[in-house]
Amino acid sequence: MAERVCPWWLGFWLASPLRKLMLNPRAVVQPFVTSGMIVLEPGPGMGFFTLPLARLVAPGGRVVAVDIQQKMLDGLKRRARRAGLQEQVEPRLARPSGMGVESLQGKVDFALVFAMVHEVPDAARFFREIAAALKPGGQLLFCEPAGHVTESMFAESLRLAQEAGLSDIKRLSVHGNLGAALTRH
Ligand SMILES: C[S@@+](CC[C@H](N)C(=O)[O-])C[C@H]1O[C@@H](n2cnc3c(N)ncnc32)[C@H](O)[C@@H]1O
Repeated sequence: MAERVCPWWLGFWLASPLRKLMLNPRAVVQPFVTSGMIVLEPGPGMGFFTLPLARLVAPGGRVVAVDIQQKMLDGLKRRARRAGLQEQVEPRLARPSGMGVESLQGKVDFALVFAMVHEVPDAARFFREIAAALKPGGQLLFCEPAGHVTESMFAESLRLAQEAGLSDIKRLSVHGNLGAALTRH
């Protein structure tokens, strides 16, 4: 299922204010996030969702943003610094063997996975890492771009997420993207 990873330079477009004309990142995550939360965001790119998440978890919370590309994280760090949000954003480089978030086991309140699972070579392992990081009752919002990802690919990802221990699947349309909210029990 995995395709090649999004080129780093596309990170500038993905984080650009123009994208907000089509998709309001704060409105997407606001129903799931309150101040003080620990949020895990795999594949943040240059931070289109990360900065709104960081504002919502302040004060006291943080967003752990794990990307496989250092150049995406460099862009994210720059943007977080300019916005005065560096305290709330913890960028981490993923390893080829996985996200390396064992230290977060059972601590995460909310995870956002937006437009990245189709790039992950081992989605079963990926969802197991998310499930292990979430607290009981913690939620995952999982979205994929419609068209680029077919309904049957998305259904297969949901099956893998369920196998990993995420349930109560609520299907959502997030500004035309395929989406689902899932809960760790
Ligand atoms: C299409 S971009 C989406 C960025 C962001 N979620 C957004 O919607 O603006 C996909 C991101 O996932 C990252 N990525 C791909 N495979 C990954 C992996 N195995 N672990 C962590 N990040 C990964 C890419 O480097 C890229 O930043």
